[in-house]
Order: sequence, then structure tokens, then C-alpha cells
Amino acid sequence: MKHTQRATLGGKLSAVLVAAGSSVGLGNIWRFPYVAGDNGGGAFLAIYILCVLIIGLPLMIAEFSVGRASHKNAVGAYRALDRKWSFLGYNGVLAAFLILGFYFVVSGWTAEYMVHSVTGELARYTTAEEYTAMFERFIGSPWRPLLYTSVFILATHFIIALGVQKGIERSAKVLMPLLFVILVALAIHSLLMPNGAEGLKFFLKPDFSKIGPATVLTALGQAFFSLSIGIGTMVTYASYFKPETNLRHTALNVTILDTLVALLAGIVIFPAVFSVGIEPSSGPSLVFITLPGIFNGMPWSMVWSSVFFLLLIVAALTSTISLHEVITAYMHEEWHLSRKAAAWATTGATMVLAALASLSLGVLNGWKICGLNLFDSLDYLTANILLPAGGFFTCIFVGWRLDRKVLEAQVTNDGHLPFRIRKVFVFLLRYLCPAVLLLVFLDNLGAF
Ligand code: TRP
Repeated sequence: MKHTQRATLGGKLSAVLVAAGSSVGLGNIWRFPYVAGDNGGGAFLAIYILCVLIIGLPLMIAEFSVGRASHKNAVGAYRALDRKWSFLGYNGVLAAFLILGFYFVVSGWTAEYMVHSVTGELARYTTAEEYTAMFERFIGSPWRPLLYTSVFILATHFIIALGVQKGIERSAKVLMPLLFVILVALAIHSLLMPNGAEGLKFFLKPDFSKIGPATVLTALGQAFFSLSIGIGTMVTYASYFKPETNLRHTALNVTILDTLVALLAGIVIFPAVFSVGIEPSSGPSLVFITLPGIFNGMPWSMVWSSVFFLLLIVAALTSTISLHEVITAYMHEEWHLSRKAAAWATTGATMVLAALASLSLGVLNGWKICGLNLFDSLDYLTANILLPAGGFFTCIFVGWRLDRKVLEAQVTNDGHLPFRIRKVFVFLLRYLCPAVLLLVFLDNLGAF
């Protein structure tokens, strides 16, 4: 199938924008601060940045190469390059489905917080206890989160089904830089809050005594999650890239942007966490109970919080679209469903999973899988197992199995671009990345 017959995602717009739309999302602003807070702050940050540079960046280039070399969905791409490796694509489709199961729930929370900002509800509370109680009341309610989650799922669905991605990507072009600007403003405000410096120290000053095997795996998982790699999202997106797109520059720009947004989110959240008196290890609720405290200290708090949550919704939406697209493109091309039917099948299935995940924080809290509720187990299983495993096999496939000429042709655009970092790149993909991934896994299983 020629890629011109496929969805118009990316169209004339730059590849960086589309890929950054996928990468920058709740992973940076919701997940990164709470995971960093849970794992000791500064030490986690140092390991995280190493994971991004040494493993994340080469893997993103590898995924781009697989996608553009095959012009196919995640499963079709690996199958076209080597039949035996289609399992890597299936791992991706499964992981995308499981991620959407909890990602849509958190997206629903951002939508509810935007509504609360506009109605002034959020500005009514003043203490950490009140913010926490409000959040818990909301996620524990049986139907409110479901309502917001469903609205979010349907929004993603219609963007995918109507093929209006171009509109979304174009608006993201304006809204994403705006998100950046507002994060900078919030960071400045947050740093000036009482005790702000202490929070900044917690976030930036590494304390390596806090590092254990689990920390490294968590940092790795967070890097993969934030960059959207390991499950074929970037394979799917790169299948729509133009032949003249420079894959290395695209990957580098996306990585830098994504990491800057995560850093900024940390600089916004941690000073406020210490100022308002919240535990940095509060888990998934951290951002939702910290942000109201930041806004409420600002003049025009309703305006700030409404605009911020609106931008967060857009950031989440460009990420859910990319995850939904992995499954939709797979069903459309491999099962020969119409695009519309494939999109509906994806939407229906994710709606059931997201509803269960949402209820697992409230009425279904008694259901545990290995001691975790469904929401937490979906998060853990994808970020700490499926993404790193997908990354490991991608390294092996691209480093060892894929014809070197195919890789070179993609990275150099058929010889039009120089490839000075060839040796380093190949070394990372063949040896260093898979070795680190394997060691981290074994270490977590208690092998050493
Ligand atoms: N990277 C996105 C975020 O940070 C989420 C996401 C989109 C994702 N596509 C992905 C995560 C693929 C893992 C794999 O919010």
C-alpha cells in the first residue's frame, strides 16, 4: 500500500511538530513530576536524562527508520522488513491499547479541572488538605470521571475518524509554544513561593544514595513513555514522513523539546509542593493537588488555570491521537477494515478498558492485580515492562537484523546527508542500549 493512500497525518507540516505532539503530553506534566517525586527527585532526574540521551534518542531514530523504510503500520512494518519480527509490532499495538486505558482517564481529569477552573470551583479551596479532598472526591465518584473520560475518547475518535489531524496539528503549532510560555511563567511564580528554593533543591540536587535497581528501571520507563518510543508510535508516524525529512534532526529536536517540557514541569511543581506542604511522593494525584495551590496565589487565578488546563488538554489530545492511530492503522491495514470501522473498534475497546481503569480508583478499588488496582497496573505493566522490552527488541532488530543498507538509506536520505556519527550510533544500538536494557531488567528480577 502506498503511503499516499493513508491518513493525511503530518501532511505538509513538519515531522517535528507531529512527533513532538505525540511526545509532549501528560507524560511530561503529570507523570514525570510524580515519578521523580516518588524516586527521590534529583538523583532520578540525572538518570532520566542519561536514559533519554543514550537510549531514547538512538531508539527514536531507529523507529523512524523502520517506519519510513516500510510505509506501514507497526505490525506491517516489522513484518515487511522481516516476517519473524512482527511480534514487535503486536507488542506495540497491545501496549498502545493498555496505555490508552489509563491515559484517557487522566486526560478526563484535566478536562474536569478545566471546567472547575472556568466555573471558579478550583479557586474556592486554599489548603493542601482541601485540594486533596477535592481530587479524591472527584476520582472516587462513580460517574463524573467516566463522563469526562468518554468526552475525551470521543474527541480523539472524531479527530482520527474525520481525518482532521491537520487542523489539530496546525493548532498545536500555536498552542504548544503557548504551553511552553505559560510553563515558564508558572515556573517563575512557583520559585518565588515561600520554601520554593527547597523544592528546587529536591528536584535538581542528586542524592545518589537513593538510587536502586527499581529507580533505574523507572527512569528508563519514564524516558520511553515521555518520548513515545518502544511501541511503534514513531514507526507509525514516520511511515507518513516525506523522503526529505531529516530523521536525526527530527529525533534530536523532539527529544530536546520533550525533555525541556519535563524539566519545566518539575521546576513548576516541586517548589510548590514544598511551599504548599504536599508530600513529593503523593503519586498520580501530585500534579492535580499541587497546581491549584500555584494558581491560587496568582492574580487572575481563574484565567491562568483555565488557559493552562486547556493547553494541557491539547497536549494530551495530540498524544492520545498518536496512540489511537497505532491501533487504527493496524486494524485498517492488516484486517482490511475501513478506516472508520477500525477507528470505532479502537474507540469501543479503549472505552471499556478506560471505564474499568477509572472505576478501579473508586468503586472497584477492591480488585487488585499483584497488589495494584487496574489503573496502576496498566501504568506499571506498560511503562516498566512493555516499553523497555519493545525498546530492547527494537535495538536488536535494527542493530543486528535489519539490512544495514536500509538503515543507512533512511538515516542519510539515500546518501544525501552525511553520517558522521555512524560508528557511535551503531555501537549504541548494537551493544550499549540492549546491554543496559537487559542488565536493568535482570537487576530488577533480583539476578545480582
Ligand atoms: N509520550 C506521551 C506523553 O508523554 C504519551 C504517548 C504517546 C506514548 N504515544 C506513546 C507513550 C507511545 C508511550 C508510547 O504524554
